[in-house]
Amino acid sequence: MPCCHADFALTETSDKAFTVGMPTFTFGAGCLAEAGEQALEQGLKRVALFTDQGLRNSVHVAAVSASLRAAGVEFVIYDEISVEPTTASFQAAARFASEGKFDGYVSVGGGSVMDTCKAANLYATHPADFMSYVNAPIGGGQKVPGPLKPHIACPTTAGTGSETTGIAIFNLTDINAKTGIISRRLIPTVALIDPAVTLTLPAKVMAASGFDCMSHALESLTARPWPRRLNPARGVNRPVSQGANPFSDALAGEALRSVGKFLVRAVNDASDIDARTEMMFAATQAGIAFNAAGCHLPHGLSYSVSGLTRDFHLDGYPPRKSLVPHGMAVVLNNPSVWRFTAPCSPQRHLHGAACLGAETRDALPQDAGEALAGRVVEMMQATGMPNGLSDLGFTLADVDALATGSEPQYRVIRNAPKEVSRDDLKSLFGAAMRYW
Ligand SMILES: NC(=O)c1ccc[n+]([C@@H]2O[C@H](COP(=O)([O-])OP(=O)(O)OC[C@H]3O[C@@H](n4cnc5c(N)ncnc54)[C@H](O)[C@@H]3O)[C@@H](O)[C@H]2O)c1
Ligand SMILES: [Fe+2]
Repeated sequence: MPCCHADFALTETSDKAFTVGMPTFTFGAGCLAEAGEQALEQGLKRVALFTDQGLRNSVHVAAVSASLRAAGVEFVIYDEISVEPTTASFQAAARFASEGKFDGYVSVGGGSVMDTCKAANLYATHPADFMSYVNAPIGGGQKVPGPLKPHIACPTTAGTGSETTGIAIFNLTDINAKTGIISRRLIPTVALIDPAVTLTLPAKVMAASGFDCMSHALESLTARPWPRRLNPARGVNRPVSQGANPFSDALAGEALRSVGKFLVRAVNDASDIDARTEMMFAATQAGIAFNAAGCHLPHGLSYSVSGLTRDFHLDGYPPRKSLVPHGMAVVLNNPSVWRFTAPCSPQRHLHGAACLGAETRDALPQDAGEALAGRVVEMMQATGMPNGLSDLGFTLADVDALATGSEPQYRVIRNAPKEVSRDDLKSLFGAAMRYW
């Protein structure tokens, strides 16, 4: 793999440094039992334990509860979170946190739970009008004024990497668009990453969250390199996500090697603890990578796909709720995006394809988009993913609405390695209708 560091040459207007944030993390089977000791270490006497209703009676919540109890840490469980959070569910969680007078937080769940816990901690610690902290230009983009209360994050899916990020994502119901709150202050204090939790993960959740992890790594690798970031703020005002950088490159490459080897096995055999453990570690690596580098088109386009789909249900997700899981919406746009972005950084796209296990030895730069798209399509087929947006009921008549639905996501889309017009958005959705 030729060195990509030429991409990091500074220009006159570049920021001169990049910043990487991450929590202190512990990785290993059984480490959920350390939750009580960790809480004591953080000086916590009374915590809110966030989870969702599907996990409330799980062995994972039981393990964390037992550990807190053994350490003498008082806790109150909150499970009223929405799987894929909304304005109302964030606000309700914030009210619970403010009224409960907690001195810290523990979250046990996937991205939905951890993100809700981050938001609740924020509004309880630094009360403000709800929209003030939400990303500009949709919200006020106000800076978080100080540290939050300690948060011990215990992920139960192998995908979002939310335990490592300063990001909390929700659906802003008023405009039916996903947006979020982003600040390094939101990064959990401590993450307890216990791969044993994956043994109970339903196959569809494993697949969707695994592809989310894959896309975090690919988007980190192919994001606009940090010296070319638009409007660079400097120093402590440097944004959380700054574009591809040498640190995120290294972690993204490692995460992709694991995803290429283990995702299909992890989805198709719930008892394959080796594969699921590797996916759990890949999710953490990709989380740290994309937190520093940022996502771009696949995530930017995913939100209108999930926002506009009706009556879609999958095993493993809450029944009676139409939901396209985040990772599924993200991967459905992947092949289409890689064919579009590869010409502006073919080496990075070929590197991503090679890490995922594609044969790229004799590939030319002009083969890069196809090499990466083809490998992703192969993995989608092997894990039972839908065959493009048409399998969710979309047709070419919907590309206009899909493009309009992506416009609130320009903050993310601008991190792509090239400029993206409205016509490009329509072409990208058109090319994502059917892959095989
Ligand atoms: N903050 C970030 O950095 C970040 C990054 C990516 C995605 N996200 C967000 O995360 C959310 C998606 O999170 P997710 O993919 O982790 O899934 P999730 O939290 O939405 O959970 C999906 C389903 O899986 C179930 N589940 C979770 N762990 C389980 C386990 N071990 N055993 C059995 N069932 C289990 C849950 O009960 C739920 O029904 C989206 O809202 C997305 O936007 C956030
Ligand atoms: Fe994601």
